[in-house]
Amino acid sequence: MKLTVIGCGYLGATHAACMAELGHEVLGMDSDMDKVAVLGSGKAPFHERGLDEMLARHTSSGRLKFTASYAETAAFADLHFISVGTPQQPGEHAYDLSHLFAAVRQLAPRLTAPAVIAVKSTVPVGTAPRIRDVLHEHAPAADRLEVAWNPEFLRESSAIEDTLRPDRLVLGFDSEHSWAEAVLRQCFEKIIEAGTPTLITDWATAELAKASANAFLATKISFINAIAEICEASGADVTQLAGILGHDDRIGGHGMRPGLGFGGGCLPKDLHGFMARAGELGAGQAVSMLREVDAINHRRRQRTVDLARQQLDGTLLGKRITVWGAAFKPHTDDIRDSPALAVAQKLHDLGATLTVSDPQALDNARKTHPDLDYADDPIAAVQDADLLLHLTEWPQYSHIDPHRLTTRAAHTHLIDGRGTLNAQTWREAGWTIQALGRP
Ligand code: UDX
Repeated sequence: MKLTVIGCGYLGATHAACMAELGHEVLGMDSDMDKVAVLGSGKAPFHERGLDEMLARHTSSGRLKFTASYAETAAFADLHFISVGTPQQPGEHAYDLSHLFAAVRQLAPRLTAPAVIAVKSTVPVGTAPRIRDVLHEHAPAADRLEVAWNPEFLRESSAIEDTLRPDRLVLGFDSEHSWAEAVLRQCFEKIIEAGTPTLITDWATAELAKASANAFLATKISFINAIAEICEASGADVTQLAGILGHDDRIGGHGMRPGLGFGGGCLPKDLHGFMARAGELGAGQAVSMLREVDAINHRRRQRTVDLARQQLDGTLLGKRITVWGAAFKPHTDDIRDSPALAVAQKLHDLGATLTVSDPQALDNARKTHPDLDYADDPIAAVQDADLLLHLTEWPQYSHIDPHRLTTRAAHTHLIDGRGTLNAQTWREAGWTIQALGRP
């Protein structure tokens, strides 16, 4: 099939590459010319496992192209995926849908033939009819356009795997649709034939699927972090507890890693957007517990700052602190709402001098957090430090031999915010260690 993908960020670039991998002829569209140039040369403008190789393979075969032109995009195919960003509005919890509606308004007047518009962007429930209305108002082929909702559940760092072998495929249509379902079934034929559960719903259910899935995932993480708070008060070990709970099939071990809490471009934003929309719909009470989920998440960051102050005898002024970790999670360079960077910035604002190390995310971190110092080498980063904070799950950091750091650091104090270091090994190397949720 021929198809286009409008909006080539983390989601869209991955979707475009994976659609080419499935055998389709794909045109990716983005209004950012620099991004179009990088993607067109077969490279991702961000770090995602396996994506560079896949982009290179399909841009050189000619099956995948990129453009900044809406005219070219509209003329290329009769299936258009929309995956533009829907960030949080500054100072508010609600989504900013301006990029989404701008994309639809640009595309609509150029749609002269029947087409399916399949939206993947995460939105508040009730957005699909608004998109249909804009298309009906502006598109010459208005009565031959169908809007479908196709939420995306991919995780950064396993985005390709999640796209090609998803847990489920959700396709939402309005009651009058006639051919959009057949088009999307054809597009996802290989995925459906592989046995992927395929759920056909109305628009509202499909829109809510992503928001409610992310609200649940955030709740699970905050639940185990609330238990971590009780462990800190009682001397129990949250890592062991998480393992014990996870053995119960009804609970499950996924999303039960305690630590610094969740960040990134999705979970925090979707939690806020979900709460804001529920309030607008008069169903705010139904999600009141999510306010606590959000609060628990932020308390983990504050707790880490408080522990740092304690370790440094009550004052951060003039102290040298090293933070391992800048990305919001391992195997990505994405720093959006990164818990590690939020803690580093707070410690800096309280008077400490910060050096941050991360395998992939330093270029991004430098742009948004120019007050912090950065070091590529995690061992050199510890030079003369009064305190080391381990705030990442990149595996290479947990394997560093603490003996290599003992003489570099000014003081051998460590806080393990991820609970993945071997406390005994560090103690034997002369370090005092405190871990979130552990004795
Ligand atoms: C998430 C959802 O998983 C995905 O389905 C959705 O499409 C987009 O949002 P992502 O943001 O890539 O994906 O990351 P995820 O792996 O879910 O982690 C989110 C955050 O939670 C990270 O900061 C991670 O460190 C944290 N986390 C995750 C925990 O603290 N504990 C866990 O057990 C799992």
